[in-house]
Amino acid sequence: MTGDVGGTRPEMHISPDAGALADEAARRFSAAAGAAITARGRFTVALSGGSTPKALFRLLAVPAARDAVDWGRVVICWGDERCVPPDDEQSNYRMTREQLLDHVPIPAAQIHRIPAELPDHEAAADAYAATLREVFACEPGALPRFDLIHLGLGTEGHTASLFPGSPALGERERLVAAPWVAKLDAWRITLTPPVLNAAREVQFLVAGKEKAAIVREILHAPYDPETFPAQIVAPTAGRLLWLLDAAAAG
Ligand code: 6PG
Repeated sequence: MTGDVGGTRPEMHISPDAGALADEAARRFSAAAGAAITARGRFTVALSGGSTPKALFRLLAVPAARDAVDWGRVVICWGDERCVPPDDEQSNYRMTREQLLDHVPIPAAQIHRIPAELPDHEAAADAYAATLREVFACEPGALPRFDLIHLGLGTEGHTASLFPGSPALGERERLVAAPWVAKLDAWRITLTPPVLNAAREVQFLVAGKEKAAIVREILHAPYDPETFPAQIVAPTAGRLLWLLDAAAAG
């Protein structure tokens, strides 16, 4: 199954089931980490939230997989966050800490949580943008270039916290935005399309038959990111890979 999305022909890997998908994603995570650390001395990754990554994180925390990654050289950021405290059950940070970060030897200073609990959401977005500029030592106007960005896909086509019709979809200057998501009646903090598309590699991790219809739309419907936000992901000088299970691949 292939399809042009915004001019970038994505690569596809289809695993038999969600467990095999998590295995494949864990294998690729370790390989990408090793390659980045060898090439540049560190591995910078932006993780996604929601439920799909949990199986991957649990696998990466298993001693055999854990010991295959030099966590002392891994830098963790997030692609988006819910505007809740970091110990809230809705927090992507809490989920990642419980499933992964509490079980691997990564220095706390290399974990860059989105301060989404701040009441001023714009200030939270600006604060995270400043963090990214510092982590990546960005020259003025330069974009942070992650080694890997993980993204999920919502059944209506959102990714990170870029939802259909969101003003954040048109953001071309700011690194981080704070959109109101009417569907969820909630504020979110999200990386913007320029940051997503600056990555060396972007991987969508999508599992389950409930995602099959939207995966088909994203890959084969005419380019319309206002309707299908995930279509906006087209790395300008990087790899785009869809990691699917057979159910999501339809
Ligand atoms: C979030 C995610 C979001 C997620 C999709 C898919 O904060 O919820 O970043 O973009 O990846 O909604 O979520 P599931 O994996 O739970 O289907």
